[in-house]
Amino acid sequence: MLILSIETSCDETSAAVVKDGKEILSNVVASQVEFHKKYGGIVPEVASRKHIEVIAAVVKQALEDAKTPLKKIDAVAATYGPGLVGSLIVGLNYAKAVAFALKKPFIPVNHIEGHIYANFVSEIPNPKSQIPNFPFVCLVVSGGHTQLVLIKDHGKYQTLGHTRDDAAGEAFDKVARYLGIGYPGGPIIDKMAKKGDPEAIDFPRAMMEGYDFSFSGLKTAVVNYVKKNGMPKNVADLVASFQQAAVDTLVEKTIRAAKDFKVKWIALAGGVSANSRLRENILKRANEEGLKVSIPPLHLCTDNAAMIGSAGYYLIKKRKKSTLDTEAVSTLRI
Ligand code: KG4
Ligand code: ZN
Repeated sequence: MLILSIETSCDETSAAVVKDGKEILSNVVASQVEFHKKYGGIVPEVASRKHIEVIAAVVKQALEDAKTPLKKIDAVAATYGPGLVGSLIVGLNYAKAVAFALKKPFIPVNHIEGHIYANFVSEIPNPKSQIPNFPFVCLVVSGGHTQLVLIKDHGKYQTLGHTRDDAAGEAFDKVARYLGIGYPGGPIIDKMAKKGDPEAIDFPRAMMEGYDFSFSGLKTAVVNYVKKNGMPKNVADLVASFQQAAVDTLVEKTIRAAKDFKVKWIALAGGVSANSRLRENILKRANEEGLKVSIPPLHLCTDNAAMIGSAGYYLIKKRKKSTLDTEAVSTLRI
């Protein structure tokens, strides 16, 4: 089954062709980051206008790269939310129009669900041994969301915890903005922290009971540190210490959830899972606990349409298999 998928929930216009939910035939991502950089964050109105400008060319490129004419597409998937409303409607309406013209099914996909499915899809189909086995715990960490999810089967989720305030990526972006080191903060802090000492400053780890997260206290601790001591000579030490505090809570809660729910696999998803320290530390801790780990390659951690195509495939497949499973079809509105 060939799915054309579209993702425009934030500031990336992306289209992909995915075969059988597993194999990426093409995955075109047009980033708007240059247009938003000067504002230090995404300007929603600019984002939706930029999506309109490039969506047709991005879809055309995805079909060309996949060497797949439109008439060979079996279904069209698109992100319906969560995300910026003005951005979402561009991709969603474009996808609906293509599906309508082709008389093929349209599959609306939840963006977070899409991120999870980055663990199931790749350019060269993953050997079965590398795809997480059900049930597994997935840490979803993006610019807008931080969620710990127990995944029992395709489309069957139990949210164990989420952030009570800032998302993990939001904390990275806000700290970077406060320090004036650029946008988006996540990749900049990641790079800078490599030259710093993660133990230089002992920032708080918000380890409340259960599986919820909190990052606003950590962000405030960074601000208070700079107010009290001034900007340190070595900013790398500051960002490395901040990053380590954020990573420690993400890793420990994920490992704890895996142990409590007696799963053998954990997975990462979302933009922050591109973070090199998070990747290193989760692998180390999982290894110590005898857990297997799935982490998408860097280009599939951040927003892209291939993950949406994969999630769309499993939604449609699951529905065909079992119409009784309401949880699995709850987001499916063809
Ligand atoms: O998943 P994503 O591309 O978009 C959303 O759905 O939000 O995530 C974007 C977020 C941004 O906050 C960005 O700073 C963060 O992911 N991010 C990172 C890294 N790369 C991207 N955070 C930490 N380290 C990174 N290497
Ligand atoms: Zn995302």
